[in-house]
Amino acid sequence: MTPLPSPLRAMRHVLGLGLRRLRRKPIRWVQVELTNHCNYRCRFCPQSRWRQQASGAPYNRAKGYMDFDLYRRIIDEANQVALGVNFSFFGEPMMHPRFLDCMEYLNGRNPALRVVMNTNLSLATQEIFTKLIEIRLDNLRLSIDAATPETYETVRPGGRPVDLAGREVDGNRFEAVCRKAEWWFSLCEHTPTRHVFTVNSCNRHEVKAFVERWLPLLGENDAVLTKSVLSYGGKVFDDLVRPNPCNVWDAGGLTVDWAGNVSPCNLDTNMDLAIGNVEQSTLKTLRESPRYRELRRASNKGDIAACWACVDANDWRRNLVFRRGDCVSEDAFYIHD
Ligand SMILES: C[S@@+](CC[C@H](N)C(=O)[O-])C[C@H]1O[C@@H](n2cnc3c(N)ncnc32)[C@H](O)[C@@H]1O
Ligand code: SF4
Repeated sequence: MTPLPSPLRAMRHVLGLGLRRLRRKPIRWVQVELTNHCNYRCRFCPQSRWRQQASGAPYNRAKGYMDFDLYRRIIDEANQVALGVNFSFFGEPMMHPRFLDCMEYLNGRNPALRVVMNTNLSLATQEIFTKLIEIRLDNLRLSIDAATPETYETVRPGGRPVDLAGREVDGNRFEAVCRKAEWWFSLCEHTPTRHVFTVNSCNRHEVKAFVERWLPLLGENDAVLTKSVLSYGGKVFDDLVRPNPCNVWDAGGLTVDWAGNVSPCNLDTNMDLAIGNVEQSTLKTLRESPRYRELRRASNKGDIAACWACVDANDWRRNLVFRRGDCVSEDAFYIHD
């Protein structure tokens, strides 16, 4: 794909937003894992439980980085068959050695393809932020999950962040990532951003303070999302996890891990439901395969052993969205009790 000059890209992007709403595609979104390596060990994240099996739901698949040619193939196909690409799943995407090349490749994407990314912000530099704006990322999702340094160290322990210039920060890790988020929100051209707070039993007392701190800094296309902790198929235990029936099949997505394995479940940390690999097949073929249909039937009947430890699926019932100017009432947060 050859990148277009920026005024043309801008025009294509605006047209793309309209087209996206009109087109039907066989796949709603493709969740792409650039890597499952991570520099953090967040208390509530299955990533931190790698090879520490505490239930019948292990997370022990190999760690690695997605091959760049494989990545290009996935984006090329997503351009044709998907409405969106989501860089999240596991690991920290900015740890990929060719992260900037991966982003640059999105410059030539089909403008109707919506691209979003989650990051813990620790490795974000001015160069990376600038690239995300340049490639017109559709939504950036930040994960800080605390309103104080103490709670940050409890819920998000791990490596040292770098500052905007890429220099490792010696002092307070929490303040270092907050400074970068503040700088990002102060840019009038920043990408629409979702400031995510994953509510768990160790940070629930800081939800309101978090919302009150960040709401005044948001632009008109930004939001704060407070969302419930999930068990990720029975890998994470927390008092705030609630029973909820499986809803992954209605979401209409595919998850591709760093090695190209494809699962219909966005919570399938260990890729136990893999239906194939994009090295040997295409996303569309896998989505329309007999194996996909068989798994869906088996899931409806409760016949998939890997799903037995999953009690909550995507329990989004208690998620709350706040936008600039919203009034923050104490009562709203009882929903997380
Ligand atoms: C797994 S992370 C990967 C991207 C990046 N490393 C980050 O922290 O944003 C993607 C998102 O999942 C959230 N997450 C992790 N474990 C979770 C859990 N058990 N329940 C709900 N969300 C979780 C994180 O807070 C983050 O917003
Ligand atoms: S930074 Fe993201 S992937 Fe890494 S442990 Fe934390 S939530 Fe999980």
